Amino acid sequence: MNKYYVTTPIYYVNDRPHIGHVYTTTIADIFARYHRLKGEDVFFLTGTDEHAAKVVDSAAQRNLSAQEWADQNAQAFQDTFRRLELSHDDFIRTSQPRHTEKVQRYVAALIESGAVYLGDYEGWYDAGQEEYIPESKAKEYEYKSPFNNQPLVRKSEKNYFFKLSDYAEPLLRLMTEQPDFVQPTVRRNEVINRIREGLNDVPISRTGGTDWGIKVPGDETHTIYVWIDALFNYLSTIDTDDRCRYWPADVHFIAKDILWFHAVIWPAMLMALKRELPRQVYAHGFWIAEGQKMSKSLGNFIDLEKIDHYVNAYGIDALRYFLASNGPLGANDSDFADATFVEVYNADLANDLGNLVQRTLSMIQRYRDGAVAQGSATSTSDATDTDLVSVATRAVTVYAERLERLGLHEALTAVWELVTRANRYVEENAPWKLAKDQTQAERLDAVLYHLAESVRLISVLIQPVMPDISSRIRVQLGLGDDLPTIDELAWGKLPATIQIQKPTPLFPKHES
Ligand code: MSP
Repeated sequence: MNKYYVTTPIYYVNDRPHIGHVYTTTIADIFARYHRLKGEDVFFLTGTDEHAAKVVDSAAQRNLSAQEWADQNAQAFQDTFRRLELSHDDFIRTSQPRHTEKVQRYVAALIESGAVYLGDYEGWYDAGQEEYIPESKAKEYEYKSPFNNQPLVRKSEKNYFFKLSDYAEPLLRLMTEQPDFVQPTVRRNEVINRIREGLNDVPISRTGGTDWGIKVPGDETHTIYVWIDALFNYLSTIDTDDRCRYWPADVHFIAKDILWFHAVIWPAMLMALKRELPRQVYAHGFWIAEGQKMSKSLGNFIDLEKIDHYVNAYGIDALRYFLASNGPLGANDSDFADATFVEVYNADLANDLGNLVQRTLSMIQRYRDGAVAQGSATSTSDATDTDLVSVATRAVTVYAERLERLGLHEALTAVWELVTRANRYVEENAPWKLAKDQTQAERLDAVLYHLAESVRLISVLIQPVMPDISSRIRVQLGLGDDLPTIDELAWGKLPATIQIQKPTPLFPKHES
């Protein structure tokens, strides 16, 4: 059985969950569900990154220990993900012993092999991001953080260094031999260009901190730099006897903000540890909100309150569909605008999908007491049947092909071509007219069969994106509530003896 290991970034525990975190986790969830549909052995990981120095400060301001503050905030992420019914198999917290112990082992191995050594470092530091910025970039940013505009600070310290400078060649070779290792292509090119500018060794420890963080093994005065600690989560979580089969990760989903760590430092560390490399790092774009970058100063985050609003008013699956169909999965950013959300909901969900399912089921109910006749499908076949079947068959092929390459937008477009075609098929065949003419009984059976079969196929195709809607359609269609499998993705698999249930609207209309 194929395995599929998919990850999200682990989120800073100092922030409140917002649409950005929910987005990446939802995308990973969709691919986890797609691979489960295929019958694969899936492991889907998300979690929180807890050892940042600012956690200590934030906790102190609230008279809490860092651990207490991290516990509270990690809980907020877990609660959010649970409420959104995300299907992660584990939630790793970097303060858990199962992680800290492994990180010490990995760093000990790196010191042992000489890939990590003790040296001196001086450079420009972005305190908000907890990240050193190379001279060329610092200059380009006018010595200010591109993230919060605060001045970069000159910082010098004795550090443990990772010999990243040894890995320029191997990394470039990796990116040439495996063009898909970093995607989308614009991101890949950025990484390649920056590697070509040369790689410096990177500090992986800090001194003078508090007890918060993981100590460098054998040197209690140094704490492992939070980013190095965090990257190891992908390995530490599954580095156990019963889970090691999942390594290497099939895809690390991230956004473009943290590309360098994932596309360069992480694979180089794995090379140094002589571990297999992840198959792909996919860095999507950013959501902006109503045309503006989301920021603390503007206070315009699509935050939990707003997310709850969409979930309560439209349902989790409608939010998932909007994120999946309109999100920044490619190289570009996407705008989360309320008006767009409502438009997409009304057009794609209420009018297109909702309407197709509703009228198909109620016509079968009304004209055939809820039973779909079999076998008559071909006897009266005409051009609209042939065309519908060919659009359906193409949708299935394109869908699978695109999803294998993370082309979620295109996969959904193919599904909606089928939805649209099926709605047109209803108009073309006008079952309400056929129902009035006894001589057309066989034709009516065939038309209703074609519609039921289209709806069944669609229920499977949308399952990864809208699991709840998919299940409701299948129950109404009389297919029961078992999860579908990929084998059902072929025209003609509608069971002979189904009894349609009373249809209830899937996407109530909203006035706003
Ligand atoms: N803790 C680090 C990641 C360590 S991974 C080993 C971190 N955390 S974060 O909380 O800042 O999360 C960053 C990630 O959140 C992005 O890479 C992206 O996945 C998601 N997003 C945060 N803001 C986003 C948008 N505005 N739009 C889309 N996704 C964004 O960095």
